[in-house]
Amino acid sequence: MRPRTAVIPVAGLGTRFLPATKAMPKEMLTVVDKPLIQYAVEEALAAGIERIIFVTGRGKEMLADHFDYVPELEGALRERKREGLLQQIRSLVPTPGCLLFTRQNEPLGLGHAVWCARHLVGDLPFAVLLPDDLVWPKEGAPPIMQQMCDEFEHQHHSMVAIMTVAQKETHKYGILDPVAQADTTGRLVQAKGLVEKPAPHDAPSRLAIIGRYILRPEIFDLLGQKKTGAGGEVQLTDAMALLMQDHPLYGFRFQGTRFDCGDKVGFQMANLALALEQHEMRERLLPFLHEQLTHWTAQTSP
Ligand code: G1P
Repeated sequence: MRPRTAVIPVAGLGTRFLPATKAMPKEMLTVVDKPLIQYAVEEALAAGIERIIFVTGRGKEMLADHFDYVPELEGALRERKREGLLQQIRSLVPTPGCLLFTRQNEPLGLGHAVWCARHLVGDLPFAVLLPDDLVWPKEGAPPIMQQMCDEFEHQHHSMVAIMTVAQKETHKYGILDPVAQADTTGRLVQAKGLVEKPAPHDAPSRLAIIGRYILRPEIFDLLGQKKTGAGGEVQLTDAMALLMQDHPLYGFRFQGTRFDCGDKVGFQMANLALALEQHEMRERLLPFLHEQLTHWTAQTSP
């Protein structure tokens, strides 16, 4: 059985990207030529997800519009015979009824945002995708959520995507505590604990949670207790740690590169890396990058 429903929390304020995100949702920030939210939705659909739930907030209406028909635009493109572009715009609209919306009225944390989707999810396993984390699959590998759903079909356990981070970075992530005999280099790493944003000296490992999850519906009862954790927020990581007392949970090492698009530098890296993937852009960007590199190396050398 594969997850058929995905939850995408999109209520965050995007304060790290002000002033760009003053009036525009941070999920509409564009990497090359697509907004972050579109990468997440396309990844979910590619994994076989049939229902996508946006947990939104005030000022996020643009996200619903992005996935809707725009008759005036389509009419203009048809008139100008821009068939390719027209198809591209039309293919953005998911099958009617597949996109669902609910609101997180108070900013109480990621765990609370996911809990807000409980009635729409029902009682089957579901996926969670955080659009700030853009994961570009390794060449030849399927998108990350598809990798996780394929794995889930075999072993049916809750799963979180993980990657190894530097010790000094542990305070930015949920960190997995692997069981003693776990093979921490293989694809799946069984967890015996999870800690949200531990200081480097308290971190049980360097295995950090990345924003892709497959969870059992039992998590909703735990989230419903609304216990606050790191940063005074209801943390998804804490509820998963409780869930693990009754159900095994695994870290999943994905094949791909993760870009932290909630961070200005990570966002620039994503733009560069994905632009360089495209032949035409690469041809024009590489000479420019060489030039910049020469300039800045000369400026910064002693
Ligand atoms: C959230 C989660 C954290 C996870 C991270 C991945 O934190 O709470 O466990 O490691 O996403 O991006 P946030 O970045 O929203 O503070």
